[in-house]
Amino acid sequence: MSTRSLWAIVAPIFLAALYLTTAPATSRAQEAAENQFTTSLDIRMGRRVFQQQCGRCHGRDAGGGELGPDLTQGFRNSSTDAGLFNIIREGLPNTQMIGISRRSTDQSVWMIVSYLNSLNNTEDVDLAGNATNGQQLFSGKGNCSSCHMVNGTGGRRGPELSQVGNRRDPDELISDLRTPNEDVTPRWWTLRVTRDDGAIVEGLRMSEDTFAMRLMDENEDLWSFSKSNIRSYDRVKTSIMPAIGDMLTDSEVDDLIAYLYSLRREES
Ligand code: HEC
Ligand code: HEC
Repeated sequence: MSTRSLWAIVAPIFLAALYLTTAPATSRAQEAAENQFTTSLDIRMGRRVFQQQCGRCHGRDAGGGELGPDLTQGFRNSSTDAGLFNIIREGLPNTQMIGISRRSTDQSVWMIVSYLNSLNNTEDVDLAGNATNGQQLFSGKGNCSSCHMVNGTGGRRGPELSQVGNRRDPDELISDLRTPNEDVTPRWWTLRVTRDDGAIVEGLRMSEDTFAMRLMDENEDLWSFSKSNIRSYDRVKTSIMPAIGDMLTDSEVDDLIAYLYSLRREES
């Protein structure tokens, strides 16, 4: 390596160190340490990066896994955004917690910080609705429990919602209800199979490989098909969840949101 290219690497580090040791402890460092990426889109992006890079140890929803602790209950090693940023960037020395890939930008680290903060957001938001009414709507008029399980009761055709308030804030919940088709992961795709006898069987795509697939119909019955024994099949990549539309009044929607947001783990 030429002296010149070595200097290109060392100079910024050297200058940064010089700056930190000579600059008075004022704004600059703090300014740099302020998270500029906190919108709900940033949070969603952060969640995506988290699932790719951190989920295998900390669990897909950061609830903890075999290799990494739960990150939804506050942090032992840091109480500030800048502290979290450093842990994610650098890792924790002498632990399995390695820093994020060097190729990841600072921006995506800040997005992860925002995502983790959103999971740890236990401050009570003032919501217009009434959670008790919302609970009744959920299993009654709203018919939500036909697809969603909460604390062991309900259907399996949609995600489990016992802790949905930890992962979704009220604005996100409203868009979940108003526009369920957006952004459906393969887990919630539908398969529509036309059998050799012409009959159609449709249901959630439970698994699929080159030769076979399994689906769960609306009665939660499981079907297996070998791809060579059917006439055709389609993947439907939109959500089976109906948009609430005009089914509920605005104040009933408020009640449902208050209920859903109350489905959180308490701060320990
Ligand atoms: C190889 C497994 C592994 C991967 C990958 C991993 N972590 Fe960790 N992480 C750990 C372990 C283990 C700890 C606990 C370290 C200790 O304190 O002993 C930890 C600790 C942490 C902490 C500190 C928790 C606290 O209470 O202070 C944060 C924050 C964190 N990880 C975030 C992340 C993020 C974000 C990613 C992805 C960029 C990630 N981790 C990737 C294993 C992992
Ligand atoms: C026919 C089944 C079905 C019904 C009925 C249904 N949902 Fe869903 N719901 C789903 C599926 C599938 C998903 C996942 C795909 C998606 O995001 O649209 C989902 C997603 C959601 C999410 C996002 C969960 C997350 O983890 O991000 C919320 C919140 C939700 N539903 C609430 C409701 C409420 C409240 C009702 C009643 C008004 C309802 N659902 C009725 C099937 C259903």
